[in-house]
Amino acid sequence: MSRLRLGVNIDHVATIRNARGESYPDPARAAEIALMAGADGITAHLREDRRHISDADIDTLAALTRRRGLPLNLEMAVTPEMEAIALAHRPHAACLVPERREEVTTEGGLDVVGHHNRIVPVVAALKGAGIRVSLFVEPDPAQIDAARDVGANVVELHTGAYCLAVRERRGDAAQLLEELRKAAVQAERLGLEVHAGHGIDYETVGPIAGIPQVVELNIGHFLVGEAIFVGLDAAIRRMRQLMDHARAADRGPAAREAVA
Ligand code: PXP
Repeated sequence: MSRLRLGVNIDHVATIRNARGESYPDPARAAEIALMAGADGITAHLREDRRHISDADIDTLAALTRRRGLPLNLEMAVTPEMEAIALAHRPHAACLVPERREEVTTEGGLDVVGHHNRIVPVVAALKGAGIRVSLFVEPDPAQIDAARDVGANVVELHTGAYCLAVRERRGDAAQLLEELRKAAVQAERLGLEVHAGHGIDYETVGPIAGIPQVVELNIGHFLVGEAIFVGLDAAIRRMRQLMDHARAADRGPAAREAVA
């Protein structure tokens, strides 16, 4: 299995900063620490209501990741405003997500089937600017087929339902994991790169990282929360270790020892 990349989402460092309207804590400092702790890239969601990440944060994060030669993954709604911002910054990747102002977090995946005609030109414009385009979708066969049809490079599978089922100790967790597995196989077969994210913690990272087609995880809220207790560096290092363990599990005891 290929090495699994970790994108650290630093949105909620900005949430804490904005609670006071001050300049502290600084998401750019979190990004520096994340990259030193072994993150392979930084993910940030510039929401239409700017409730956490700001336009100035994106300027800073784009410059920082470019300087470090590491990817910035810009999560964005499918709107003309966000498209213009992405085209101005040309991040390594853009992940198109659904967005409703009243939601607490990104609830559910993008309806690629229903918004095919709106998504096609945005995907084309972003790809034309050299940006890899990812679509955040539920593990639903029709959405994954549609992601291929609109020309996306990547699907990021929404792991929120599975992670919540595990946290609530619900009986449907195994079924939801199976749906993620099947979606990953389908997406790879269609030539799409497979990422996964939302709601991942130390408990759920292993089963998700064990899906061989998945090459990147994007994790934010849990890491920022855990950072309050152990520090961001330690939280990311532990997550990285759990990912590597899950990845090595299929390669036998020697591989497991190598990452221990
Ligand atoms: N991936 C996408 C597309 C997201 O929208 C989010 C949340 O912003 C994440 C990953 C990270 O989710 P979490 O903060 O729950 O780890």
